[in-house]
Amino acid sequence: MKAIEITKPGKVVIKDRLVPKIDENEILVKVKAAGICGSDVHIYHGKNAFATYPRVVGHEFVGEVEKVGLQVQNVKVGDRVAIDPVVSCGHCYSCRIGRRNVCKNLNVLGVHRDGGYQEYIAVAATSAHKLPDNISWEIAAMVEPYTIAAQVLDRGRLTATDTVLICGAGPIGLVILQAVKMIGARVAIMDVIESRLKWAKEMGADLVINAKTSDMIKEVMEFTNNEGASLILEATGNVNVLESCIHNIASPAGRVVVLGFSTDLVKIPQVDIMSKELEIIGTRLNNNKFPQVIDWFAKELVQPQKILTHTFNFEETQKAFELNDENPESVCKIVLTF
Ligand SMILES: NC(=O)c1ccc[n+]([C@@H]2O[C@H](COP(=O)([O-])OP(=O)(O)OC[C@H]3O[C@@H](n4cnc5c(N)ncnc54)[C@H](O)[C@@H]3O)[C@@H](O)[C@H]2O)c1
Ligand SMILES: [Zn+2]
Ligand SMILES: [Zn+2]
Repeated sequence: MKAIEITKPGKVVIKDRLVPKIDENEILVKVKAAGICGSDVHIYHGKNAFATYPRVVGHEFVGEVEKVGLQVQNVKVGDRVAIDPVVSCGHCYSCRIGRRNVCKNLNVLGVHRDGGYQEYIAVAATSAHKLPDNISWEIAAMVEPYTIAAQVLDRGRLTATDTVLICGAGPIGLVILQAVKMIGARVAIMDVIESRLKWAKEMGADLVINAKTSDMIKEVMEFTNNEGASLILEATGNVNVLESCIHNIASPAGRVVVLGFSTDLVKIPQVDIMSKELEIIGTRLNNNKFPQVIDWFAKELVQPQKILTHTFNFEETQKAFELNDENPESVCKIVLTF
């Protein structure tokens, strides 16, 4: 079988590998489609602190069950499945309180161990979630990014009465936007790329703000009747944007959900947090959100087809990475097919 290996930063090689063996609690998945995520490209560029090399990346993948281990009950050969990339230890503090996505010994498929950019992969059967037949492989590959949105909504305790600001209209900001509109809250979204803001408008954003050409703080204040946003979802990854959200934009009693993982320092006055009783909330990957998101897809409550802009054969991964890097105006989500 073929596997796409990042042998070292900047180098993608198509390797011949043996089809993996499975143990009694595992399944062998014949990969059908896999999304390209910013973090895959970061690993390709050597900019992910958690990744080691050589690495087969890809944490957004779906496929058909080819073989099952002796003890496997939840899926059978021929099932179409999406794979949750979060692998947790089950016994650390976070696992014990049901928050396996921040497991102390967290392993993410495609980051800490090999992921989905290969023709076959062995995974724990418990990480497989059955897909309905009416969802195509390319669309199903986007279940994982929507689980990020499901986690963000959960962490931020979104309700329809919130006035929301989403910072960043990249694939993740746009997926979150669709999820927020599904719940029905009013939402503004900001970016500096006009075409991404245009997509956001088409996906139902109530206000789009180009931070390059207009004053974000002023616009959000007008949008919220000078109250500030009750829920801010920071998906630019830029710490200056986060500072401004906390200092100038969050309403008293507001919540700020942080998605980015920059190691730059964030400088905010302590009194901002205290005086407004602000909540600054982290969110990472997803905590058992696959069933919920597959249900969103099956009921067409979200529009993943609007996120997918390109597909490539998996043997053209390097070309797809380059397109992703060089064309943020026209590329949203690229899915590799197998
Ligand atoms: N916490 C998690 O589980 C999780 C999961 C996936 C992605 N992320 C993070 O979420 C963020 C968004 O992911 P993505 O894939 O959409 O990334 P992306 O880079 O494609 O999108 C970021 C968007 O923010 C915009 N932006 C950047 N700096 C800006 C600024 N100063 N002002 C206005 N707009 C600005 C960019 O133009 C871009 O459209 C990234 O930081 C990523 O690392 C976190
Ligand atoms: Zn991702
Ligand atoms: Zn754990």
